[in-house]
Amino acid sequence: MSKTNTAFNSSHHSKEPTNTRRSFLKGALSTAAVATVATATSSNILASSHVSMAGVIYTKENPGKWAKKVGGHLPKITIDGQKVTLNTDHGMSTKHFIVRHTLVSQDGEVLGEKTFTPDDEEAISSYTLPEGYKGKLYATSFCNKHDFWLAETKV
Ligand SMILES: [Fe+2]
Repeated sequence: MSKTNTAFNSSHHSKEPTNTRRSFLKGALSTAAVATVATATSSNILASSHVSMAGVIYTKENPGKWAKKVGGHLPKITIDGQKVTLNTDHGMSTKHFIVRHTLVSQDGEVLGEKTFTPDDEEAISSYTLPEGYKGKLYATSFCNKHDFWLAETKV
């Protein structure tokens, strides 16, 4: 946030015409918005137990309008040594199916991803953790009708 303050302070002292100052401020605000998003990602603001992104990301703690759909949409994370398996207990039909899984590290690195089709019998995917990985893991599952779900665990 210190960058934002600097930007505003310097605009106050600026001798430039108002229009230029306005567009400078606009630019400063856009930069601030981008910086906020980047900070949010790197500080794990998406941790499901802490923050609700109501209507955007559904979690066990914040299932919103899909409160009755948690069991069939929240990906289950199973860890066996370095092997991580994600399982969304959901049917797979042409009209209604799980589209995709991802496994993401604490630092936001996508460790693996799998896109499903309605022809897949189950929404199950497996990944291998990097050697010695320690930290949080995020699992996402996306239903074509019931949106984007996030679960997390720690290894
Ligand atoms: Fe669904």
